[in-house]
Amino acid sequence: MGFNVYVTSVIPEPGIPIVKAACEKVEVYTKDQAHPRKCFLSKIKGRDGVLCLLTDAIDAEAMDTAKGCKVFANMAVGFNNIDVKEATKRGIIITNTPGVLTDATADMAWALIMSTVRRIPESERFLRAGKFHGWRPMMYLGGDLVGRTLGIVGAGRIGTAVALRSMGWGMRILYTDMNQNKEIEQKLGARKVDLPTLLKESDVVTLHTVLDASTRHLIGEKELGIMKKSAYLINTSRGPVIDEAALAKALKEKVIAGAGLDVYEEEPKVQKGLLKLENVVLAPHIASATIATRSKMATMAANNLVAALRGQRPENIVNPEVLAK
Ligand code: GLV
Repeated sequence: MGFNVYVTSVIPEPGIPIVKAACEKVEVYTKDQAHPRKCFLSKIKGRDGVLCLLTDAIDAEAMDTAKGCKVFANMAVGFNNIDVKEATKRGIIITNTPGVLTDATADMAWALIMSTVRRIPESERFLRAGKFHGWRPMMYLGGDLVGRTLGIVGAGRIGTAVALRSMGWGMRILYTDMNQNKEIEQKLGARKVDLPTLLKESDVVTLHTVLDASTRHLIGEKELGIMKKSAYLINTSRGPVIDEAALAKALKEKVIAGAGLDVYEEEPKVQKGLLKLENVVLAPHIASATIATRSKMATMAANNLVAALRGQRPENIVNPEVLAK
């Protein structure tokens, strides 16, 4: 008890009640928008802990401002919004919410695969515009999935779940990862290859890497040029993994057939070029947005925050080194 905590957004139940039951002072930013930086900095001052979102930049400036803060509990599996090295140096605990959003995110990757390959949003726009005057043999022809090759870039938890869902389409699976993934090799006959091979041979390429210096612009003009003209690119990981300007150019010039995106290089901005194109499906970063998943993420972030404040080991600590200090 006695903890003073800031929560940077309203979050699903039972996140805030968990925090309130354990802390004396809890303030929640209640506006339904990303926290304006100046206000965010003034609010985190003097807190023992902060429950934050992937839209909050937790950098050296934030850590200086929140001097004495013991923990930043991120309500996301990705934590590229946090300078973890800096936090570790200062002995600040960082936590995330892995596992609970694996299925929702894998489902979203497949929703984007299906809607991109079968051109659903594009054809819906056509219908809503009153242009549907009957069945036509050449109308909205898309691609096929059965027996085709699915390239998984990053075969961790989410990449694995995406691969397993391909069973219904009997797809050949290629993957890239630092580690061998025995599960998808055994269950699906997946083959670990290098990135150029995956790009060259896949009909659908789906991205599931973390964002760090090694994956920033992993897919740029050169990589798009290696892909088949008939292939599709799907991204539910982080926007900067793709050079978005290069993708817009490639889609415009039909270097690849289409793309399905849930994430963007400079969210909430989206390349103007992309917005004008029909061969790209654009979702507003909603991969984990199911009622049950977001509730589990909020619960997990709240429990991580409370555990860290109480001096216990949070279940999902990103930088366990700080506990040894
Ligand atoms: C969402 O993008 C997450 O990292 O949880």
